[in-house]
Amino acid sequence: MDIFEKRIANLGPLGIWAAQSDGYFMFPKLEGEISNKMIFRGKERLVWSLNNYLGLANHPEVRKADADASRDWGLATPMGARMMSGQTIYHEQLERELAAFVSKEDSFLLNFGYQGMISIIDSLIDRNDVVVYDSEAHACIIDGLRLHLGKRFVYPHNNIENLRKGLERAKKLTAISGGGILVITEGVYGMSGDLGKLKEIVDLKKEYDFRLLVDDAHGFGTMGATGAGTGEAQGVQDGIDVYFGTFAKAMAGIGAFVASRKDIVDYLRHSMRSQIYAKSLPMPMVIGSLKRLDLIRTQPQLKKQLWTIVDALQNGLKENGLNIGNTASPVTPVFLNGDVSEATQLTIDLRENYNIFCSLVVYPVVPKGTIMLRLIPTAVHTLEDVKYTISAFSDIQTNLAAGKYSSGVFPDFSKY
Ligand SMILES: Cc1ncc(COP(=O)(O)O)c(C=O)c1O
Repeated sequence: MDIFEKRIANLGPLGIWAAQSDGYFMFPKLEGEISNKMIFRGKERLVWSLNNYLGLANHPEVRKADADASRDWGLATPMGARMMSGQTIYHEQLERELAAFVSKEDSFLLNFGYQGMISIIDSLIDRNDVVVYDSEAHACIIDGLRLHLGKRFVYPHNNIENLRKGLERAKKLTAISGGGILVITEGVYGMSGDLGKLKEIVDLKKEYDFRLLVDDAHGFGTMGATGAGTGEAQGVQDGIDVYFGTFAKAMAGIGAFVASRKDIVDYLRHSMRSQIYAKSLPMPMVIGSLKRLDLIRTQPQLKKQLWTIVDALQNGLKENGLNIGNTASPVTPVFLNGDVSEATQLTIDLRENYNIFCSLVVYPVVPKGTIMLRLIPTAVHTLEDVKYTISAFSDIQTNLAAGKYSSGVFPDFSKY
């Protein structure tokens, strides 16, 4: 069969919804300055969908640093991969500053977190090594593991007893293969907002010999006393052997980094295919990231404001009987019971009648019959935004229970 015909005959789990969803539920266009209020389909909405945790996206100093760097350097500089011709003193400076911030000896920049993580996994382990990882690991971890030729064991999300069983099996296998063991978890799980049990995992090092890789995409900048992440928050930063953070969330930029012991970062620098065979991060991203990191370090009130909003939102939702699961981070899921048609009807109600824009997650990402609305509080939200949103969510929950959204049909959003 022709490849194109095959693809068109089966568009995939998201592609099948394209006609009913694109432009509204999928690929929506949020316009205007990145902030708590933005324009969606011509109307101003209160937005809870952006990982702009610290409000840096539109911070005047960030905007100036980005603009100045673009004017001074353009987007082309430096040309080539880091190893060949793309090295600069600014890339090196950012790496030193990031490493110091997360209390590691050295760090290495990645162009994107997603590709970077794939490449970290690919270069760190070989066919003799065994990986034990959390079942809710992000796609970048799963895809990195697709390249792994050796054994892997998955443990149910945050189930330390099962992790221990995985380690036991891995120990037996590596005793034969001569390989090592890598455990992979996230710091903050980006969908549910609950935390990886880093402390318990690090404690297992007393019994088992393994290295720990932590994807802290959502924890970097938001968690811990200084914002150095979930390891800092749980007092086990030293127990993390390889720390990964992205600039795409709290830093409101693009790019990422991996931090570890100096000799390991040196090894990665000379081995990671995603960086050896790809162009270096453009200078405005690097200079802009230096400014963002400086603000994270020197303006603790940004994180304090973020947490004021997080606490008010999460406590208010709970007090009003809404189920926010086990979140212990800014990520705020709201779980409701209903089918996909109800999920879409209530999202339209939220967007069109309350002017609230948040992300909707349905089966197969969450179990059938569960609707998850995900709210991302940020430092640019206000307590008034919080109050308004809690009241709207209470209404939605009442309406859902009263069957208001149960028409059974997928709504036509084109009229909005
Ligand atoms: C847990 C996690 N890891 C990695 C990534 C990828 O980061 P980036 O957007 O820099 O590619 C994301 C972002 O979606 C994430 O949530």
